[in-house]
Amino acid sequence: MDFKQTYDRYLRAVNAAIAAHPLLTGDENLQMDALSAAPVDGVIPEPLKSAVRYSLLLPGKRIRPVLLLAGYHLLKDDWESVMPYAVALEMIHTYSLIHDDLPALDDDELRRGQPTSHRVFGEAMAVLAGDALYSLAFETMLQAALQSGHPYALGAIAEIANRAGVRGMIAGQTLDVKLEGTQPRKDMVHYIQRHKTGDLLTAPVTAGLMLAGADEALLAAGQTYGEKLGNAFQIVDDLLDLQGDATILGKQTGMDAKHGKMTWPAVYGEETSRRDAERLIREAKNALHAFAPRAAFLEQLADFTIDRAS
Ligand code: IPE
Ligand code: IPE
Ligand code: MG
Ligand code: MG
Ligand code: MG
Repeated sequence: MDFKQTYDRYLRAVNAAIAAHPLLTGDENLQMDALSAAPVDGVIPEPLKSAVRYSLLLPGKRIRPVLLLAGYHLLKDDWESVMPYAVALEMIHTYSLIHDDLPALDDDELRRGQPTSHRVFGEAMAVLAGDALYSLAFETMLQAALQSGHPYALGAIAEIANRAGVRGMIAGQTLDVKLEGTQPRKDMVHYIQRHKTGDLLTAPVTAGLMLAGADEALLAAGQTYGEKLGNAFQIVDDLLDLQGDATILGKQTGMDAKHGKMTWPAVYGEETSRRDAERLIREAKNALHAFAPRAAFLEQLADFTIDRAS
């Protein structure tokens, strides 16, 4: 199987698992009108459920769940037992996008080719849809851990919690927002990218390896891969904001400059940014040697990260 076929196989499996999530399926019309229909205990009330489904089901690349499955597959072959963790990562990522797009943060109107959550459902519902996805992610993982008794489940969940949390993605987002309009600084942009993006791209690899029972040396190799990949991924995101096509990207371009964001190109310029991303991808791939010959897909995924147009 070539890279695209393998990616599509992961993508289809992840999309099917998301669509089949027990809390997100069921009769959508049951409570469409939250004001007139009687509320039902045990189901997500409308319009919250619609807001959650709207953002989650839009076509994202699903790179974080794919990374978790592929990280696990560096050592193991089955899919079923780790799919809830893959779905949970997409939930956390989607929540981060909904909140990232809010007027109080990046104030964006377009996401995944469609109007952002707050444009469709209003700001209050967008805030709550993000909250809902964050808690659903942990509910999903803990339910899986309780049911399957995966021996390394709690370690993996803790890893995801740490990297998504106040010293991870949220820490990066904090400085991303607070440093808008300030003088570009190397230490700051490194911190921002390591955390706002790097942590949510590293967690799938390390958590996937933890679920597979990897030893310390393999975990460290996976962590290096994730960190380098994450850094390159955000540099490319910054470059696409400057050079990309909004129709292909499915989000507005030129927004980073408009907000005075502390981006890699703002600190280093576009040419150096492209070179840095290429170097980081080489370093990411080098870290995979420990897993050869099972690492071919993740090597190609690293190349895809930098070649992408969306
Ligand atoms: C966008 O993430 C936000 C960043 C961290 C750069 P993706 O580029 O993975 O967005 P989707 O999930 O494919 O929409
Ligand atoms: C987003 O970074 C990082 C998170 C959502 C955590 P950006 O603000 O650059 O992402 P886009 O460009 O809006 O997708
Ligand atoms: Mg942002
Ligand atoms: Mg943004
Ligand atoms: Mg961006």
